[in-house]
Amino acid sequence: MEFFIDTAITDEIREINEWGVLAGVTTNPSLIVASGRDFREVVQEIAALVGGAISAEVTALDAAGMIKEGREVAAWNEHVVVKLPLTPAGLQACKTLTSEGIRTNVTLCFSVPQALLAARAGATYISPFAGRVDDTGADGIELIRQIKEAYVLGGIDTKVLAASIRHPQHVVQAALAGADVATIPYKVFTQMVKHPLTQAGLDGFMKDWAKRSGASPETP
Ligand code: E4P
Repeated sequence: MEFFIDTAITDEIREINEWGVLAGVTTNPSLIVASGRDFREVVQEIAALVGGAISAEVTALDAAGMIKEGREVAAWNEHVVVKLPLTPAGLQACKTLTSEGIRTNVTLCFSVPQALLAARAGATYISPFAGRVDDTGADGIELIRQIKEAYVLGGIDTKVLAASIRHPQHVVQAALAGADVATIPYKVFTQMVKHPLTQAGLDGFMKDWAKRSGASPETP
């Protein structure tokens, strides 16, 4: 399973990208507003930083508007993936943009029937929102598992992008459910990397290393 980061804050993207684990970035209109940056400027900066799949979402609600915006944002950088909402207009725009060779991420997916429609419209990625499904009392990870199973059985190559990830266990569960990608907030990356036994083990190794005669703790 690949990792994307779910943010438009370039300092967060830069830091996690330095770990060497990122294959892409997802943004949405709320995240762009939270960044306080101009849409085009921040997407182009992110694309230059990461160079993977960078999702940039349209804000038009009608198909013609989505197609126009989608063509525009796709032209900003070769790494841009056009993000479209899972509505009839979004499906129509997906079909058209896909036929033009533009990659798409169909977002706000909350059911298997929606995911099957997006795949038939040619979506490159489908984004089921695990956390928001959990918030309703249903099981977001089970939704991801069912979408992946339906895609495998149907020979569909649309990639399942687990979104609305809230904690490290969501990442584990998404991987075990067969997700191709998880888009993960900055905070969850910082939680994933930590383990108390890693720090305790490192402290112990460094303490013992410092006991060598004439050695300082920094000496390799
Ligand atoms: C996906 O691409 C969305 O940007 C994101 O995962 C939504 O997550 P949220 O439910 O935490 O807003």
